[in-house]
Amino acid sequence: MKILVVGGGGREHAIIKKIKQNPEVTEIVCLPGNAGIAADAECVNLKATDIDGIVGYVKGHPVDFAVVAPDDPLALGCVDRLHELGVKCFGPDAKAARIEASKVFAKNLMKKYGIPTAAYESFEDARKALDYVKNCPLPIVVKADGLALGKGVTICFTRDEAAAAVKAAMLDGAFGASGSRVVIEEYLEGPEVSVLAFTDGHVVKPMVSSMDHKRVGDGDVGPNTGGMGTIAPNPCYTPEVAERCMREIFLPTVAAMNAEGCPFRGCLYFGLMVTKDGPKVIEYNCRFGDPETQVVLPLMKSDLLTVMLAVENGTLADTPVEFEDGAACCVMLASGGYPGKYEKGKVIDLGRAGDMAEIYHSGTGRNEKGELVTAGGRVLGVCCTADDLQTAIEKAYRAADEVKWDGMILRRDIGKRALGILTD
Ligand code: AMP
Ligand code: GLY
Repeated sequence: MKILVVGGGGREHAIIKKIKQNPEVTEIVCLPGNAGIAADAECVNLKATDIDGIVGYVKGHPVDFAVVAPDDPLALGCVDRLHELGVKCFGPDAKAARIEASKVFAKNLMKKYGIPTAAYESFEDARKALDYVKNCPLPIVVKADGLALGKGVTICFTRDEAAAAVKAAMLDGAFGASGSRVVIEEYLEGPEVSVLAFTDGHVVKPMVSSMDHKRVGDGDVGPNTGGMGTIAPNPCYTPEVAERCMREIFLPTVAAMNAEGCPFRGCLYFGLMVTKDGPKVIEYNCRFGDPETQVVLPLMKSDLLTVMLAVENGTLADTPVEFEDGAACCVMLASGGYPGKYEKGKVIDLGRAGDMAEIYHSGTGRNEKGELVTAGGRVLGVCCTADDLQTAIEKAYRAADEVKWDGMILRRDIGKRALGILTD
């Protein structure tokens, strides 16, 4: 089988490595891929958002199955267009992708169908939003409506901060068109859990739970990033919480999308907060998380491509989705300055890391000498599995310490909070 993967980061690298384990896969093409993915797939330099380019490529180079991994091509209707060509795909169509692409859509869905989430108001008029934050409870969370690379959310502890966040999104265009509408919502407290789940619109089969570390600095300080590291499983996701999530959140969400006429097929990502009143949804994503995928897929026992085909064919009920009992840790190595300004083109020395861990490439490229260089904010994910979390973390950091480039940054405390919960 010839497989197409749209995207070019660590998540796509992990998906490709897992898909390759299926013996029927003869060829994988990745658009655009990166320097690491090039070792596992043929990379073709087409942007994931260039939907016309992707459609044109597939017309000239037929594929048997396509996996559309990132949020923006999904929101732009990449799956709809590939379906028009008769190509089977893993990923939701544009209507279903709104569950991530519009926070207003997601919040209204949850309100209408009684799915637990933070109380909220949405605004299209900056003046009304500014009036609202003059009297709202504090802390309060201001969110740009559209896609903003995980950076459109501001947690505000004072009214001045809230007013500044509204102004930045709605008046100064800090997130482009994504910020022309905002959701202002109640601040929730409790540990966060990420759950990725396969769904074919009928049944939901969750993957092993995980924990992201979104802030750039140790101890969860500094600005939000796309994710600086992950562990799986998440110790806060107890069997009791899992059961409540299935009953109160996962199944109702899939039913709600059906009722709205936009059945969701693909990987539905539930960003959850386990509050004292039970689990609540912080956000939905319409795709695999990055870097959650890099800890979840290495623990997956079942064949990924078989499950993806079952999702597209609506036969997930008959397809087992099983995970190992062990644990995994992914430490992200990033460019100095990220998530703000950073330099690219730094030569990467991997040392012996490749023998000690699975290295998933996020933002890498080659310079004119053919050397591996940095090409993005998040550069490499260093991932290890083990029987227990402590060992997985130690192994990942030992491998991460092999890698060097000028200005490299990493968090030193990935998994620390989870270990604290396990030993409490
Ligand atoms: P999001 O992009 O919606 O996942 O938000 C990014 C991060 O902001 C989340 O992972 C949370 O840590 C935090 N966050 C978002 N919404 C809330 C909320 N209502 N209460 C507390 N923290 C939140
Ligand atoms: N790691 C968070 C996300 O993929 O949205």
